[in-house]
Amino acid sequence: MGTILDVNTRRKTQEPAAAPAPKAPSRSQTPATKRVFIKTYGCQMNVYDSQRMADVLAPIGYGLADSAEDADIVILNTCHIREKAAEKVYSELGRIRQTKEKREAKGGAPMTVAVAGCVAQAEGAEITRRAPVVDMVLGPQTYHKLPEMIAQLARQDGQVLETDFDTLEKFDELSIDRDVDGFAAFVTIQEGCDKFCTFCVVPYTRGAEVSRPVGQIVAEIRALAAKGVKEITLLGQNVNAYHGAADDGSTWGLGQLIRHLALIGGIERLRFTTSHPRDMDEDLITAHGDETKLMPYLHLPLQAGSDKILKAMNRGHTYAEYRDLIARIRAARPDIALSSDFIVGFPGETDEDFEDTMRAVEEIGYGSAFSFKYSVRPGTPGANLPDQVPEDVKSARLARLQDLLARQQTEFNQSLIGKTIPVLVENVSAKTPGQLFGRAEYLQGTHFMGGPELVGTIVNVKITDAGRNSLSGDLA
Ligand code: 5AD
Ligand code: SF4
Repeated sequence: MGTILDVNTRRKTQEPAAAPAPKAPSRSQTPATKRVFIKTYGCQMNVYDSQRMADVLAPIGYGLADSAEDADIVILNTCHIREKAAEKVYSELGRIRQTKEKREAKGGAPMTVAVAGCVAQAEGAEITRRAPVVDMVLGPQTYHKLPEMIAQLARQDGQVLETDFDTLEKFDELSIDRDVDGFAAFVTIQEGCDKFCTFCVVPYTRGAEVSRPVGQIVAEIRALAAKGVKEITLLGQNVNAYHGAADDGSTWGLGQLIRHLALIGGIERLRFTTSHPRDMDEDLITAHGDETKLMPYLHLPLQAGSDKILKAMNRGHTYAEYRDLIARIRAARPDIALSSDFIVGFPGETDEDFEDTMRAVEEIGYGSAFSFKYSVRPGTPGANLPDQVPEDVKSARLARLQDLLARQQTEFNQSLIGKTIPVLVENVSAKTPGQLFGRAEYLQGTHFMGGPELVGTIVNVKITDAGRNSLSGDLA
C-alpha cells in the first residue's frame, strides 16, 4: 500500500490498506456510465501507460471521452524530460480549471483532475500547490491504483497522491486483457534506468531498471495477437538492458526474448525502443541478422559526436566505439536503417565539439533522428556543470543539425523509390477514396491504392515517390 499524503494539510497519514479493487470483469460486460479524457505527453511509454490507465478504469465504468469538457475525470499523463515538456502541464492545467468551472457552473457533474506520469513523480505535492485544481497525483508506477484512488477521493476531502515505486507490483496487478486499436501495439517490457546520463531525469522519475518476467510478456502479446495485432514494439527506457526471469528460473536477454516472441502465432513484426549502445550485446546483434520478424530499423541514440561531451554526459562509450558497433550491426543486417537522439549545447560543448557531432552524422548516415537543445533539469548532475551554452548558440547548432538530419531522412526515403517493400496496412484513407495507409518496415507512413479488405494485412508496395516523412507507391 502506498503512502497517502493529504496534500492540503501536508500531513502524512498512513491509511489502512484499502480493500483491493474487485477483479475486473471483461470490459464488454461493464457498460460505461462515466467518461475519462486522457491527454498524453512525451514518449511511447506514456502512450502505453495511457492505454493501460484506460484499461484499469474500464471495469469500474469509465469509457473514453473525446474532450476534457465531456469528462468526469481528466488525466494528464505528463513528461519531465525537458523543461518545455514539464511547463506545458501547468499551462494545460490552467485551461482545464476553466473547463471544469464552466462545466460545473452549467450544473454538470463535478470533474476530477489527475496528473500522472513523470512530472507527477518528480514534482509530487508541488503540483497540487501550484495548481489547486488537481485532485490526484500519481506516478508512473502507481496507475494500477487509480480505482482505489478514485474511491479514496470520494471518501475524503483534499488531494490524493501516490508516487511509490513498485514496477513489478504494477504489472502483476494489470490485466492482460487490453483494449486494442489497430494492428500495431506497444508492450512495455522494461522500465527505469541505471545509466545516469548526466542530462537525464529518467533514473529519478522512472526509478531503477526493472524487467518484466518473460511469461507475463508472452501472455500479454498472445492476448494482443488473438485480437488481431500483428506488430509489437517492445518498450523500455533502456530496453536492450532487458534481463527478465524466464519460467525455468534462467534470465533472458532481449535477443532471446525476441526469438521467443517471434514464435507467437499472428505476430509478424517486432521492434524495440529505446536502446543504449553499451547494452547492444552479441546475441541481439545476431538476432538482427537471423530473426526475420525483427524489423530492420534500430533506434540507437548517440547524443553527441565528441568524446569529451560523451564523457561529460556519462554515456560510457566513445564515438569510435559507437561507430564500430554500428559496423557490426550493419554487417549482421546490411539493410538496417538507423535512428538516433542528439542533444546540442550540453555544458562545455564548443564549436569544435559540435562539429564532431555533425561529422558523426555524416559518417553514420541516419534514416531518421530526433534532436534537442540541452535543457537544464534540476537535480541532474548536468544542471550544476560550468560552461552552460547560451540559448542562441544552441538554437543555431540545432538548426544546422536538423537540416543535415532532414536531408539524410529524405535521401533515405528516396533510396526506396523503385523498390518493392512490405507494408502493414493500418487503415483506409479518410480523405482519398480507395487509398490505403500503412507502415513500412522502416516506419514511414505509406500511401497506395487498394481495397479495404487489405486492412490488417502485410502487402508488397512498389515505391514510386518519397518525401521527408512518407512514401507512396502501387500494390505490387
Ligand atoms: N535536454 C535535452 N534533451 C534531453 N533528452 C533527455 N534529457 C534531455 C535534456 N535534459 C533527450 C535525449 C534522450 C531523449 C529521449 O531525450 O536525447 O535520448
Ligand atoms: Fe536517460 Fe537513456 Fe541515459 Fe537512461 S540511458 S539516463 S534513460 S538517456
